[in-house]
Amino acid sequence: MHYLNLINADIKREEITAAHQARQRWVNQKKKGFLRYRRPFETLATFTASHLDCTGDTVIIGDAREVSTKEKATIQNCLQQFMPWRKGPFSVFGTEIDAEWRSERKWQRLVDHLPDLKGKIIADIGCNNGYYMFRMVPQQPRLVLGFEPSVQHYYCFKALNAMAGCENLNIDLLGVEHLALFPNCFDVIFLMGILYHRPSPIDTLRDINTALTPGGTVVIESQAIPGDAPYALFPEKTYAKVPGTYFVPTGKCLCNWMTKAGFVDVKLFCAHPMSSEEQRRTPWMVFESYQDFIDPEHPDLTVEGYPAPCRVFLTGRKKSENGCFSTKPCIK
Ligand SMILES: C[S@@+](CC[C@H](N)C(=O)[O-])C[C@H]1O[C@@H](n2cnc3c(N)ncnc32)[C@H](O)[C@@H]1O
Repeated sequence: MHYLNLINADIKREEITAAHQARQRWVNQKKKGFLRYRRPFETLATFTASHLDCTGDTVIIGDAREVSTKEKATIQNCLQQFMPWRKGPFSVFGTEIDAEWRSERKWQRLVDHLPDLKGKIIADIGCNNGYYMFRMVPQQPRLVLGFEPSVQHYYCFKALNAMAGCENLNIDLLGVEHLALFPNCFDVIFLMGILYHRPSPIDTLRDINTALTPGGTVVIESQAIPGDAPYALFPEKTYAKVPGTYFVPTGKCLCNWMTKAGFVDVKLFCAHPMSSEEQRRTPWMVFESYQDFIDPEHPDLTVEGYPAPCRVFLTGRKKSENGCFSTKPCIK
């Protein structure tokens, strides 16, 4: 966990190390559920890409000409072990991975609203296979730490980055609940696709606030319900067939949550309806997708009869130490 060496903040190092070691003891067991991902990771980690391009919509790791036909087949077979691929697109030594989500669209919506990432310490909470972490690389952050408790996604990212060799990207099998161990640590925290899965969203936002450096920025993307009133939907069982969905807010409701949790300069900069163009079944994700979650006769409703989801994007900042709220210089 060499990432701790890149962090100067006064974080709870012993507790982080203990949590990390406990998760490593767990994941290093010789159990089928871990080996099914560890083995393809170990094979993929024997390949090193000469060519890496994270500037375009597709994250390109390695060129097809760098490997033999046999090696290309091995790589493709190992990549398939990480199915279903939710986030992408990636191109890995010539294998094109068309994931369920067109993640490049989310990145395009937010990239112009980001603070300067150069030299920054960043957390991506629920980073999945690291698609957005790779997209941050061209901006030269000092460290992007992915928090990701899923073993499948953890090994998928590790495999991709073993081939890509980005030393400023790292991942740990931690969850958003570990953020309290990192007070005043991160210049920027990405919290995307997470908040509606939290039973206590305001507590999560407070934890984010605590983990930011004074003046640091949170970038939030969330499923939302349409509307301008400050309400949240609390589904009885599932929302769009997804269990573990707690509060689905309107954009305005989420602004209010952020303000109550202590953020300043809260801005909602994008809201858009979801569509089956952006989330769909592909050869790399062969299960149900967006169109199966929506009432076919009433596309503005989910199969449960709730308002169909939209997505909202917000930024907010932790108060600076001098209490300055705005990005303009504060004159005291
Ligand atoms: C809906 S996906 C969002 C992925 C990505 N952030 C994005 O915006 O596309 C939720 C991710 O959070 C991860 N996750 C699940 N429980 C978590 C937890 N307690 N803390 C952090 N991430 C978690 C899941 O494994 C999954 O990768």
